[in-house]
Amino acid sequence: EPASLPPPMKFNGTKLVNNAQHPWKPLKPGDIRGPCPGLNTLASHGYLPRNGIASPSQIIGAVQEGYNMDPSFATFVTYLGHISNGNQVTDLLSIGGKSHGTGPDPSSPAPVSGLSTHSTFEGDASLTRGDAFFGDNHSFNGTLFNEFIDFSNKFGGGKYNLTVAGELRYHRIQQSIATNPNFSFVAPRYNTAYTESVFLINFFVDGRHYDGQLDLEVARGFFQDMRMPHDFHRAPKPIGGDGFELVEAARPIQPGRNVRGVNSYTPDPTSPKLTEFCKVYENFVNKTVLTFYPKPTGALRKALKINLGRLYDALNKVNGPGCTQLFPYGNY
Ligand code: HEM
Ligand code: MG
Repeated sequence: EPASLPPPMKFNGTKLVNNAQHPWKPLKPGDIRGPCPGLNTLASHGYLPRNGIASPSQIIGAVQEGYNMDPSFATFVTYLGHISNGNQVTDLLSIGGKSHGTGPDPSSPAPVSGLSTHSTFEGDASLTRGDAFFGDNHSFNGTLFNEFIDFSNKFGGGKYNLTVAGELRYHRIQQSIATNPNFSFVAPRYNTAYTESVFLINFFVDGRHYDGQLDLEVARGFFQDMRMPHDFHRAPKPIGGDGFELVEAARPIQPGRNVRGVNSYTPDPTSPKLTEFCKVYENFVNKTVLTFYPKPTGALRKALKINLGRLYDALNKVNGPGCTQLFPYGNY
């Protein structure tokens, strides 16, 4: 049965998080890391198990403790990742590729293959990771990081900020349109791409001088070395994806995909728009979850019900009430 969710933090202001209890350590053989610099860094500082295999409740606790991510927002994002890429029965998720560490696989078609799995949560046009089409969708990519630096110099005076986020997000999309015949940019990737573009600003800037300007060496530390800077203090208040609409508004693009090879980007009007969270949820349940788990039984079915319930509860808190709850496995 899925572990209960962590209680709210007693203190939710800024504090030293690169501390003596959470030293950075290099990877040991077998340790898993993946496409998310936020979770990679938490594992390398011991906020998550250093091997990179964690339960949703560990992840929800760690992103609050380490970065001050809003608890409902954290719950929503974590269960999107866990339900699509984790083991529901053992309650374990790999933050990178497939691993024996998450326990025996279900008999369902669900691959249970970790956060690096392409086109469930992980998707194209990432800032510092290549598209799956080019072979590696999860490792730090130095060529892409150099573009990150160039854009920050050109549009941000040497820092990554909201202006840079808008330009670089657009640039990465244009690059994928022009070079990746399989480029896909529909929900949930469309929605997460804009959100992740502001995570750097909301979570990697020190909480004591929270000015929306991310230093490039600090950025490299998180992205490449999975390491918090010396004396790093987390955000001053609980926060989620604030600012993501501004990234899209800077240079709007509709959700869509290349349909006939490169340079054939075609909008998909059935894909949820940026703030249509109810539709993102419906899409996720009806497409991803039901494809992976068409007819679950026993402990698997029970865990799926609990986890889908947590996803929906979190959505209602992030988005405000109003989305209709879906019960693909019977009423609870
Ligand atoms: C990217 C999962 C929390 C920062 C990603 C990706 C996944 C993921 C699967 C890959 C998407 C892609 O680029 O294709 C999660 C989950 C979280 C979480 C399940 C649970 C709460 C965080 C936190 C931070 C963060 C707390 C910041 C402190 C980022 C950034 C990217 C990213 C900046 C984009 C990387 C890039 O474009 O190169 N995350 N993440 N994430 N995540 Fe997380
Ligand atoms: Mg990606």
